Amino acid sequence: MAQDFTATMTMSDPFDFKPKPLQFTVIGNPIEHSLSPQIHQQFSQQSNIKLEYTKTLGEPGGFNQAVQHFMASGGKGLNVTVPFKLEAYALCDQPSERARLAGAVNTLWFDAGEIYGDVTDGIGLVRDIERNHGVSIKDRRVLIIGAGGAVRGVLQALLDAGPQELIVCNRTHGKALDLAELFVSHGPIRAVEMKLLPEESFDIVINGTAASLGNALPAVPADVFHELNFVYDMMYAQQPTIFMKWALNQGAKKAVDGLGMLVEQAAAGFEIWHGVKVQAAPVIAALRQNYCSHTDGSSSAGK
Ligand code: ATR
Repeated sequence: MAQDFTATMTMSDPFDFKPKPLQFTVIGNPIEHSLSPQIHQQFSQQSNIKLEYTKTLGEPGGFNQAVQHFMASGGKGLNVTVPFKLEAYALCDQPSERARLAGAVNTLWFDAGEIYGDVTDGIGLVRDIERNHGVSIKDRRVLIIGAGGAVRGVLQALLDAGPQELIVCNRTHGKALDLAELFVSHGPIRAVEMKLLPEESFDIVINGTAASLGNALPAVPADVFHELNFVYDMMYAQQPTIFMKWALNQGAKKAVDGLGMLVEQAAAGFEIWHGVKVQAAPVIAALRQNYCSHTDGSSSAGK
């Protein structure tokens, strides 16, 4: 159930000395679908850290108030999802360096009345690709499709992983050019127009567009796929995404969704909040069984 802060404000009992679990929430709109509470509860069991993690439906124009209210009522930290990541960045007193570069924040916490923020989506993506799927980014040629907030949030982490080259392409080419310029001091990144992609070759292809949400495909030439490449859709769903199916039909070796990225970004956030490392792999496996029943790879995703 999404939590409405305006409706749940209660006076606390001054004689209730029982230690309360640490309070966390994820805020977004929509929020019902969020798996973050389940993920953090599993991390809580792994680490033996007692916590309460709710869902909060943020109202347009009400984000700042909801965060301030959560802080005032003793909350420890929030995860922030669509469409509030930019507002979360703007609200931070102390954004991390990588949050500054991303212009977005997905993890907030409070210390001495100040709001701290970080963005863990990029680490989540890189850890999922490298640790969970066993694909090294180092010295590989990587294509990322899209140039919105989601892509901006992961570029630094991808460049830090040491690709031979990171190519950004987007339906609106100017936005890809802007991103490449913004990140060029962090590694070998270049914007390429969609129609010129067949002149390049890629080991890893990442879909960071919002197209899968609308069950649409970005108009990249099918030549970007071949029997040796690994394809990653940053979206996840109960079924393989349209992009995964298309890539496999065009001959990609393996195509996976972004469920592991979701869990890994949460693990990185858990580490920031609690100073404890947790294992993402068992949580991904449990969610895969209970929620996204399809397995990664060509066998089921290609059907
Ligand atoms: P997000 O924060 O999810 O990245 P966004 O900032 O609105 O959302 O960016 C959406 C991205 O998905 C953009 O790169 C957008 O391309 P444009 O910049 O050309 O708008 C891309 N996108 C959305 N729908 C798409 C579609 N059907 N085909 C190709 N790209 C699409």
